[in-house]
Amino acid sequence: MAKLLDVILNGRKRVDAAPDNLLLLDYLREVAGLTGTKTGCDGGECGACTVLVDDKPTLSCLTLAISVRGRRVDTVESLGENGGLSAVQRGFHEKLGSQCGYCTPGFVMASAGLLRRNPNPSDAEIIAALGSNICRCTGYVKIIEAVRYAAKLNLAGIAP
Ligand code: FES
Ligand code: FES
Repeated sequence: MAKLLDVILNGRKRVDAAPDNLLLLDYLREVAGLTGTKTGCDGGECGACTVLVDDKPTLSCLTLAISVRGRRVDTVESLGENGGLSAVQRGFHEKLGSQCGYCTPGFVMASAGLLRRNPNPSDAEIIAALGSNICRCTGYVKIIEAVRYAAKLNLAGIAP
């Protein structure tokens, strides 16, 4: 049975009919047309589907869409302002934190969530915050560098 799902999605209110069993991942990609959020393992193991729900990194493949009713959901499409990259996007771009790119939206959103709650994280805190995300290409070193650099940009005034 479908229910009305009202949500603040990437800063804009929208309302859709959503079946009880619709996953947030499928809502974002197939109903809202936001394909930046990736389907990886589809089982809570890889982090490719990470989005922010009220600023908290959340695996959208394990979250029912209806459970985010009335809440704020941000996807990778929300980042950046006036055509410029966000601090985290710049970090991944400039420090080569991305290779094939499939995992990148999930890492970027997990990192943005970290910097929103902790603008000056230690390396240990960065590693812990990205512990639910898997990358098969980079070896992670460049990803940690990217987030460290993003934190500096964020402290200099560029939103994460
Ligand atoms: S697709 Fe959600 S954790 Fe892998
Ligand atoms: S860049 Fe290819 S999986 Fe991470």
